[in-house]
Amino acid sequence: RLSVVALISGGGSNLQALIDAQAAGLPIRIVAVISNRADAPGLDRARHHGIPAEILSHRDYPDRETYDADLQRLIDRHDPGLVVLAGFMRILTPEFVNHYRGRMFNIHPSLLPKFRGLHTHQRALDADETEHGASVHFVTAELDGGPIILQARVPVLPEDDAATLAARVLEQEHRIYPAAVGWFAEGRLKLGEDGRPWLDGEPMPEP
Ligand code: GAR
Repeated sequence: RLSVVALISGGGSNLQALIDAQAAGLPIRIVAVISNRADAPGLDRARHHGIPAEILSHRDYPDRETYDADLQRLIDRHDPGLVVLAGFMRILTPEFVNHYRGRMFNIHPSLLPKFRGLHTHQRALDADETEHGASVHFVTAELDGGPIILQARVPVLPEDDAATLAARVLEQEHRIYPAAVGWFAEGRLKLGEDGRPWLDGEPMPEP
């Protein structure tokens, strides 16, 4: 089983999807959940399933470098094979990101490369998109810019607001995140030397 450390900042519904997938037989073991916010509801999801839940508050640190250095130490104590960002709402230093090259995933609520950063659902509405979605990608130093592993598309409906659109996207996130993690856990997925994701020995086509 692949040992996984999950980083969260909030509700942790993607964490829950991974916990559920593990229970359903995905060959992973979530060994720790770390939040930068003490009040993240996702921490209770971890505790409820007997997963160590740790808090490392960014407020206790003077800068990003010292926070990320401690975060790295905390993560590496668990010696994970994969780090998953599951609604972890922090920009990461290049040192941190490079340390986990090829073994850190993020899920982002847009069809990347569209709408990097925050407020993706409102921005998709404002841009009159007819389609929106979510992306799982390897994390690189470029914010929300790493190689894309898997995307899910949803329609944007005329009556949508940011909340209804977010809910439709989130449902898809809960499907594609465990799927991508499963490929990695089964040894089918790697980040190639060429910077592209490789699945089953073949470079993946750009989405
Ligand atoms: C998810 O929609 C995730 O894609 C997004 O935050 C939400 C977390 O929900 N992540 C980002 O915006 C990363 N920049 P969750 O806590 O219920 O999994």
